[in-house]
Amino acid sequence: MKKFEIAHKKTLTPEIGQISVYAPLVAAKAKAGQFIILRVDEEGERIPLTVSSTSADGLVTVIYQKIGGTTLALDELNEGDCLQDLVGPLGLPTEVENVGRVAVLGGGLGCAIALPVARALHEAGNQVDLIGGFKTKSIVILEEEMSHACTDLHICTDDGTYGYHGFVTGKLEELIKSGVKFDRVFAIGPLLMMKFACRLTAQYNIPTTVSMNPIMIDGTGMCGCCRLTVGGEVKFACVDGPDFDGHKVDFDEVIARNATYRDFEAKAKEKHLCRLGGGAMNG
Ligand SMILES: Cc1cc2nc3c(=O)[nH]c(=O)nc-3n(C[C@H](O)[C@H](O)[C@H](O)COP(=O)(O)OP(=O)(O)OC[C@H]3O[C@@H](n4cnc5c(N)ncnc54)[C@H](O)[C@@H]3O)c2cc1C
Ligand code: FES
Repeated sequence: MKKFEIAHKKTLTPEIGQISVYAPLVAAKAKAGQFIILRVDEEGERIPLTVSSTSADGLVTVIYQKIGGTTLALDELNEGDCLQDLVGPLGLPTEVENVGRVAVLGGGLGCAIALPVARALHEAGNQVDLIGGFKTKSIVILEEEMSHACTDLHICTDDGTYGYHGFVTGKLEELIKSGVKFDRVFAIGPLLMMKFACRLTAQYNIPTTVSMNPIMIDGTGMCGCCRLTVGGEVKFACVDGPDFDGHKVDFDEVIARNATYRDFEAKAKEKHLCRLGGGAMNG
């Protein structure tokens, strides 16, 4: 198999894809919570994606949401195609200790990142409640994989079409109020979901780890693009994280910074979709 060749590709939902890429050195080292940075082609943007799983035969699996120019271009590749490049594993692994009973919250695509974290915590002997939230039943992903990675899986949907009717924070609060004592919570997903999860766990004094996903460029602590404020100190998510103490993160600052390139990103997506439309017409 060639370097960075796509060995397997799978469509999880119309918006979410999964690829397994041949990168044996990365596969041998990556731990839960770490990520890679890849480029689709020579002129492509570098994008970070979390390692969802690795295999003994050198494959690194990532799950991506087709949200803009680069992820749409990634999704055009097929089995047998090669990525331009891929570096990793980057970031610090999630701290995995046996603390007792933990809740792992995944919001939407965040479930793909929560899955290896839940699996590692479960293998370390914790009782793990994995709470996965989705807008609606038709976009639930990885249900079977998540069920094997925890003690109890709770699927939630915003519209009540499947599982618990409501947000992951609602399910977490329900469990806490029913008497469950969580020793730690991990929240992984959209910034707003992590912010509100931390607000809830602060009320109950439950230590909470969040996985931060600010915009990254080099992923090695050089450009400063991924900086965020944690406990009043400037941190770089790519080298000091991506996991941080959620009760100390300044979420409002990260939310504002992540919107910086919105116009540029919209143009890049439009350009990519126009190119696809043009290609289809020519073909
Ligand atoms: C540590 C980390 C792990 C991540 N893991 C995953 C994952 O497993 N699966 C997944 O689908 N996404 C993940 N992301 C987000 C992913 O990197 C972005 O969705 C991707 O870069 C979007 O690029 P685009 O060109 O397709 O879309 P764009 O239109 O360029 O961007 C869409 C949105 O993605 C975010 N984004 C854009 N560029 C970057 C960048 N260079 N770094 C970080 N965020 C960016 C912004 O919030 C932006 O609004 C992760 C981000 C970080 C920082
Ligand atoms: S991505 Fe450049 S310093 Fe973190």
